[in-house]
Amino acid sequence: KPTDLLDSFGRKHDYLRLSITDSCNFRCLYCMPDEPFKSTPSIELMNSQEIFEISKIFVQQFNINKIRITGGEPLVRTDFETIIQQISTLDARIGITTNGVLLHKYFDLFEKCGVRNLNISIDSLDREKFKYITKRDLFQTVWDNIKESIKRGFNVKLNVVVMRGFNEDEIPEFIALSHHYPIELRFIEFMPFTGNSWEKNKVIPISEMLTLVSEHFTYEKVADGKNDTSRKYRINKESKGVFGLISTMSNSFCAGCNRIRITSDGKMKNCLFGADEFDLLKSFRNNENVTELIQLGIIKKHKEKGGQFSEMENVNNQKIINRSMIKIGG
Ligand code: GTP
Ligand code: 5AD
Ligand code: SF4
Repeated sequence: KPTDLLDSFGRKHDYLRLSITDSCNFRCLYCMPDEPFKSTPSIELMNSQEIFEISKIFVQQFNINKIRITGGEPLVRTDFETIIQQISTLDARIGITTNGVLLHKYFDLFEKCGVRNLNISIDSLDREKFKYITKRDLFQTVWDNIKESIKRGFNVKLNVVVMRGFNEDEIPEFIALSHHYPIELRFIEFMPFTGNSWEKNKVIPISEMLTLVSEHFTYEKVADGKNDTSRKYRINKESKGVFGLISTMSNSFCAGCNRIRITSDGKMKNCLFGADEFDLLKSFRNNENVTELIQLGIIKKHKEKGGQFSEMENVNNQKIINRSMIKIGG
């Protein structure tokens, strides 16, 4: 009989973020660690069958109703099609978070399997800046795929990590997209992860983002969903889309957290910033009790940001114990 996954603060977890690879065809500055990066050998990754079986436990025994596939870049996995075909037989909504480069290969698959939700990263609308941040000259490919996603009617969210001195000047141009297209355009506060050279002064708090917006537009509040990461606004009633602000650093939304994560090597993380990891894959391969391990992992969840920091002013990113973003999946 299924049970809800409740933590010790009464938060119900019904959303699984599943990383399927720590490889990527981009090299984004804020995501990759500084040192030479090695992706995990495939024998240590969950294979497609293990991904399916572990996800099935979450859906069937713990009432998980939403699965978001992340990476690294999930679309680089050679068995991506098999993974999607299997996962989509489960009773859960499926979303993909991607850099967008390979999307054109998979639109038909997504339509066939009922995948509706595509979150795509795009940190600059300027080809040179895009190349600087990603180390790849692929702006046009990504932009074409974004337009095609919109045209085909997917629910599209665009993720923009805002970093001081890099792209805050593009906020008005991004906002205009949220007026002209039926998308959610999200500005994300830059977050600290192992090796990503995070500094407090590179963070633009959402209050400052809103000030920058108000220099060019008026805007109005739009209702937020209960577990949303973003606070949503629109320019006006004629807007086809909305814009959202993700304020992990200046104003956390942990009180409404409903997320569990699994890394591509099969470790459960109960928080994006949590140091604790629970080796579900090892337990699964040894025929041990995965269900109990999941419950233990959720009980150990901290109230806020893995118990590692709260006010941004006090963050010492040398002291935070975590993986790099590419190994977690966001
Ligand atoms: P939906 O599933 O569509 O609601 O999207 P999402 O915002 O949960 O996911 P997405 O993968 O698009 O991530 C957007 C940004 O939100 C990234 O910077 C993530 O790291 C961040 N994010 C996602 N989930 C969490 C979370 O539980 N806590 C925090 N602090 N940030 C998160
Ligand atoms: N801070 C904030 N957001 C980040 N992302 C990756 N690294 C960071 C970071 N350091 C975002 C990307 C991607 C999503 C999964 O996480 O924009 O869309
Ligand atoms: Fe949940 Fe941790 Fe994100 Fe807070 S920081 S919303 S507890 S995953």
